[in-house]
Amino acid sequence: MTPLLSSPAWKNLERHARDLHDRHLRDLFGTDPLRFQRLSVRWNDWLLDLSKQRITPETLPLLAELWNTADVPGWIARMRAGDPLNHTEGRAVLHMALRNFSPPPQSPAAISPQGGQKHLGRPGVFLGQASSPINVDGRDVMPDVRAVLDKMRGFCDAIHSGHWRSATGEPISDIVSIGIGGSDLGPRMATQALAAHHVPHLRVHYVANLDGADLATTLAGLAPRTTLFIIASKTFTTQETMQNAVSARAWLTTALGETAVSRHFVAISTALDRVAAFGIDPDNAFAFWDWVGGRFSVWSAIGLPLALAIGFEKFTALLAGARAMDEHFFSAPPLENLPALLAFIELWNTDFLGLQTRALLPYSESLGLLPRYLQQLEMESLGKQTDRDGQPVGCPTQPIVWGEPGTNGQHAFYQLLHQGGRALSCEFIACREADFPLAGHHAKLLANCFAQSAALMQGKTAAEASAELAAAVPPAPTFLAPYKVFPGNQSSTTLLLPKLDPHTLGALIAMYEHKVFTLGVLWNLNAFDQWGVEYGKQIANSLLPMIEGKTPVTNIDSSTAGLIAACK
Ligand code: F6P
Repeated sequence: MTPLLSSPAWKNLERHARDLHDRHLRDLFGTDPLRFQRLSVRWNDWLLDLSKQRITPETLPLLAELWNTADVPGWIARMRAGDPLNHTEGRAVLHMALRNFSPPPQSPAAISPQGGQKHLGRPGVFLGQASSPINVDGRDVMPDVRAVLDKMRGFCDAIHSGHWRSATGEPISDIVSIGIGGSDLGPRMATQALAAHHVPHLRVHYVANLDGADLATTLAGLAPRTTLFIIASKTFTTQETMQNAVSARAWLTTALGETAVSRHFVAISTALDRVAAFGIDPDNAFAFWDWVGGRFSVWSAIGLPLALAIGFEKFTALLAGARAMDEHFFSAPPLENLPALLAFIELWNTDFLGLQTRALLPYSESLGLLPRYLQQLEMESLGKQTDRDGQPVGCPTQPIVWGEPGTNGQHAFYQLLHQGGRALSCEFIACREADFPLAGHHAKLLANCFAQSAALMQGKTAAEASAELAAAVPPAPTFLAPYKVFPGNQSSTTLLLPKLDPHTLGALIAMYEHKVFTLGVLWNLNAFDQWGVEYGKQIANSLLPMIEGKTPVTNIDSSTAGLIAACK
């Protein structure tokens, strides 16, 4: 059992949750005109509004007691020192080393009239100095990090300038990144998020699914002469990626011959020997390291397709944004610390209010893949019930994360959020300024976002519904009243960002990474392994020869045997 569960801090929270049980959010707002001011936090030009969560001003300090009780600062220090926090795989957890560079000197324009820093580390290019050495097994990893970034910069420049020529002597027009999970979701999500920042004349595509439809439909519109593949796999053994890589290679060599591979394939991996065995030129291989977890790897060479999409300078702005969030997480007190606050709210909702899902609702088309990205980051990291000591955690852990961009979701599943009778938590994300500023769009988008959280919070009583019907002109049928009642009291957080740009996106991703880290400490979980995904892979490997008819269908349950038989 996680030690926290028997702590006085946890018991205090249990008591507090019982006291709050019957309070409706509408009443909490009604009795405290300063509720928003008390329960919202600012960081630079960001605003995190927690006032629509089912908490009072007493809740957050009680939750913050967990920070020291679980020794989160001590675990941060151990992470930064390169200790093997991923104890089941014996690995350090150092994705933050990938952005451990000093910010550029602040220009006068970046200093606010009050003398404070307006934009920490903004804008991008900052790969001057490692801000401090980071050691793994007594060796500073920063020179290696820097060398790979330099290689990525050179490659991006060569592709963008047309200096890199295809086997037929032409510039590259299309990049196809083949990877899955952590070797796909980060760069894919960020490439979409930064659509307003793409370089011209280069299209970046992503293929992940083992289903041939993914690769086939992507390649359908492309010319082998001007297409370059990036094979991204930490292990270089993942079935989906390897199969797609083999098929992509066949597509290319059928058109251009074997000798074309060196001009059309690059790889990103920690297993450079396997890259070479696949036939990819070692000069075209970009390394990363086992102390970078797959779902934390967008900052590494895994980010190469993203760097190609937005240009290397903007990729460094993404790193700078993440670095600014690292500084914030490492130094801000828990009640002002965005990742810590998000972790506290998640834990409160999960373990004290019994909420089982969190809907992630970005009011930003560009952030449309964020729910998918966070599903891996959070659910693969924290969807566990065995603690660091091999014991049951003793309380529910990671809730189910799901979602869609608003306003699309409003016309699909929001009905259930309002009247489905299930309590859950919603996380709204909006940007003050549009990344694609078309006249007439953005104010409406914001109005919808804020309206939804208000409606979910306050609901509508039977009396209000009846009064509304009676006041309608012409009067509406009174039998409709019960259908127009909304219980409300649905918890939500709203994160209001400035304009979506690489710096902001970098900080946003790093914020969620540190939230995951904090929850891992609080629940006493190893957030950096993923044994749960192994078992299915193991069975798939044993079924494959049966489906291919190479071995008899034995030692398997009747349902699975029946399904295999039905495919023959
Ligand atoms: O889904 C399991 C997993 O190991 C993820 O953690 C990882 O991101 C993904 O597979 C891809 O692995 P690789 O980068 O080794 O191909």
